[in-house]
Amino acid sequence: MATPHISAEPGDFAPAVLMPGDPKRAERMAAQILDDAKLVTQVRGIVGFTGRYNGPGANQGKPLSVMASGMGMPSICIYATELFGQYGVERIIRVGTAGGVSERVDIGDVIIGVGAHTTSSMNELRIPGTHFSAVADFGLAAAAWAAAAGDPHVVAGAVISSDHFYFKIPGQLDAMRAHGVLGVEMEAAGLYGVAANLGKQALTVLTISDHLTKPSADMTAQERETIFQGALKLAVAAALS
Ligand code: HPA
Repeated sequence: MATPHISAEPGDFAPAVLMPGDPKRAERMAAQILDDAKLVTQVRGIVGFTGRYNGPGANQGKPLSVMASGMGMPSICIYATELFGQYGVERIIRVGTAGGVSERVDIGDVIIGVGAHTTSSMNELRIPGTHFSAVADFGLAAAAWAAAAGDPHVVAGAVISSDHFYFKIPGQLDAMRAHGVLGVEMEAAGLYGVAANLGKQALTVLTISDHLTKPSADMTAQERETIFQGALKLAVAAALS
């Protein structure tokens, strides 16, 4: 029963899917946190794996999937719609990176994206005459927050999901800061819209990889991978809660 963008069979996905943007990161995550990981789809190089969580604690052995989303809201919305709608997936936790916007966050910090403003029109079409509010599932966000256990490098709040990575609208960054936006990324609002529409659960956990307003040193690939571990821990806690 393949869908247009996923070549897996029914039952190939666990109820919970972790979703980084990058297929290579999905592969590394699967190798790191899953026992008996099986490649279940690779259409267009967007790989998906299912196995059993190999970590410590009560969640050990639980089924878990990891699949890449690609970049941007149209891409993640395609995969989320097919996973939720045709593969019985109940929750998707995006595990990505964001550009820091707020003074409150630094490179390496983790954002739990409880809400997502957006420059995209995708959610404008959902409820006629209404500016849709793209929000995370409260239970998932609460589970991630609990797993953070008061870590001052984990903040919860609003992000902006932007259609543009390079193009900057004059005044937009100042206005984001004035409204307490923590960071900018490119997928959360789309994912939250799909989850709302299909009655499913979604969350976004983001590592700050660069900062738009604070001077900061570039990170090596190794440093990026290391700081990513904090976000992954929270995402797994939410996924298997
Ligand atoms: N913009 C959008 N998405 C991002 C950024 C950014 O600056 N950094 C990491 N993901």
